[in-house]
Amino acid sequence: MLDTTDDMHAFCVQAKREGKRLGLVPTMGALHEGHLSLVRASRARCDLVAVSIFVNPIQFGPSEDFSKYPRDLDRDRALLEKEGVHVLFAPTREEMYPKGSVTFVTVEGLSDKLCGRSRPGHFRGVTTVVAKLFNITEPEVAFFGQKDAAQAIIIRRMVRDLNLDVQIVVAPIVRERDGLAMSSRNGYLNPQQRRSATVLYRALSRIQTLADQGEHEVEKLISTGKQVVAEEPEVRLDYLEIVSPENLDAVVDIRSGALVAIAAYVGGTRLLDNVLLTGAGQARGPRLQD
Ligand code: PAJ
Repeated sequence: MLDTTDDMHAFCVQAKREGKRLGLVPTMGALHEGHLSLVRASRARCDLVAVSIFVNPIQFGPSEDFSKYPRDLDRDRALLEKEGVHVLFAPTREEMYPKGSVTFVTVEGLSDKLCGRSRPGHFRGVTTVVAKLFNITEPEVAFFGQKDAAQAIIIRRMVRDLNLDVQIVVAPIVRERDGLAMSSRNGYLNPQQRRSATVLYRALSRIQTLADQGEHEVEKLISTGKQVVAEEPEVRLDYLEIVSPENLDAVVDIRSGALVAIAAYVGGTRLLDNVLLTGAGQARGPRLQD
């Protein structure tokens, strides 16, 4: 494990000098099968896999869960060793943001949509830390999850706009058996909340079924999804939106492809999920997209 930016940079530069293809999987730790699917995708495509674990303070709002976010570096490290990860980068806050750090990367416009609306500054924090991780590690490929669809779209745009020399791979959502998308935050849920939390997936599935049956009007799809969520009194919807996967703008019709994104509070825990609909209204199968 490396914990300084200098050591990590030197390690990665040396690996590249030896002709190795480096894959980076950025995470905030509390690893689960969703994270490990990214590690496996990286192992399949790269010679050397780097994982970062850093609970990034600047992507959390003042009243959010930064201080209680689950941290278990020993467990994470053991999991990554088992997966054959070559290098783990786990810097301290001071190492990533030395005193006087005042520079941020913002993907204007996109960063105010979906989660960006209810979490002001969140995506600026994400793009800033990811840009820093790209500079520290200079990966050939970086792996992100479709689970955080807006995050992946915003990072792709940052890479394009800043001419960053990295390929972005987005891997499918890994789910629990009952459909709940895996998340480090699922551990906050009590058993009753854990049962209610499946409503996000149930709402998306209902929308997907309707779309598959030929319904293409967004208004109808959204109102059906909202009815499903309303059946769970413990769940408070933050947003259910159908947007363009290119620019996250709302669409009125799904026929040219759409991202259905949902965020909801289950008790005090905010959970996310989404599904991509293709032009024909069929949900995209689980495949890697790059
Ligand atoms: P974190 O929530 O730890 O997630 C790390 C990566 O794992 C992200 O790319 C996320 O989309 C992916 N992931 C999480 N749950 C998943 C699931 N169920 N299936 C597939 N992939 C999943 O996202 C972050 O950290 C941070 O914002 C970060 C990018 C590291 C920047 O701080």
